[in-house]
Amino acid sequence: MSDSKKSDVEAAELALKGMAHSEQHYFNSYNHHGIHEEMLKDEVRTRSYMNAIVQNKHLFKDKVVLDVGCGTAILSMFAAKAGAKHVIGVDMSTIIFKAREIVDRNGLTDKITLIQGKMEEIELPFPKVDIIISEWMGYFLLYESMLDTVLYARDRYLNKDGLIFPDKATIYACGIEDGDYKDEKIGFWDNVYGFDYTPLKETALAEPLVDTVEVKAAVTDPVAILALDLYKCTVEDLAFAVPFKLTARRDDFVHALVAWFDIDFTACHKAVRFSTGPHTKYTHWKQTVFYLKDVLTVTQGEEINCHLDVKPNERNRRDLDIKVKYQLETQDPTRQGQGEAEYKMC
Ligand SMILES: C[S@@+](CC[C@H](N)C(=O)[O-])C[C@H]1O[C@@H](n2cnc3c(N)ncnc32)[C@H](O)[C@@H]1O
Repeated sequence: MSDSKKSDVEAAELALKGMAHSEQHYFNSYNHHGIHEEMLKDEVRTRSYMNAIVQNKHLFKDKVVLDVGCGTAILSMFAAKAGAKHVIGVDMSTIIFKAREIVDRNGLTDKITLIQGKMEEIELPFPKVDIIISEWMGYFLLYESMLDTVLYARDRYLNKDGLIFPDKATIYACGIEDGDYKDEKIGFWDNVYGFDYTPLKETALAEPLVDTVEVKAAVTDPVAILALDLYKCTVEDLAFAVPFKLTARRDDFVHALVAWFDIDFTACHKAVRFSTGPHTKYTHWKQTVFYLKDVLTVTQGEEINCHLDVKPNERNRRDLDIKVKYQLETQDPTRQGQGEAEYKMC
């Protein structure tokens, strides 16, 4: 490594050390190649971005493109291949120094400028950009999400009539039968080698589980609970409270609610969309399971009235505080069921 590169890396590491502990932790996690390997190997994710960008050369040709949170610069390189006049990639993590080498190895240094720093603090070499590309999604869409950073970049830099890739994100939820796994993860604490471990049951219940759910576990129809239009939404929209109804598809038990999200690139000539739901191919986002304290016994056609409240944690805005209320609408007095639960994604 040359002396100037070394001092750039050292300066970046020093800047990271000056940040709040939670922010350091977040950005440091992106310093290592492992997390980028996982994202790059997520074919559903990376190919969707590739198709959305490379198949739409007519949109990218001669445009100035901003890649918010460029990581290893994969999206920046797709944009350069799609004919962008210039691409600016911004990332706070030190992975950006590897990204510079990667861009160089691929002969794209004259087309791509990579800036190390926080999007909110750096100054771009262009006053405005034509297109923003970004992969900002976290578990349950909003956990550890950097969508507020994308919205900042949009408001500060995007030309009027500029495009955002992707521009739509929708969270869905349904009720699932998950008795065996709930017993393994939650019931486990009732009796640990003959001891009552239920204080840990409470914490286990309060942590949503990021895991894959089989489509056959779905007992209710899925319902969209949040739809974000990235051209219009604001940071305030990222804290939301929403009522919704889940309708049982069959007679069964509901142990948990499961949530996932879909992503749309609607500016494309032929729309590109991908889903992270149980009905489709695996992605590293998997699904997010919220176990209920009790079990709802539902018959086909019955509705569960739900209310979901999601907001960033006051101390660490990347964490989420989530509240769920649920009530089974049934005429049967023996199957009445209702409750509420609080979860923390941290
Ligand atoms: C989910 S990764 C995506 C990386 C890459 N775009 C890709 O698709 O493989 C998000 C990246 O955004 C960066 N990031 C998040 N918030 C940022 C901010 N406010 N300023 C600069 N970089 C940020 C992280 O360091 C991380 O590398």
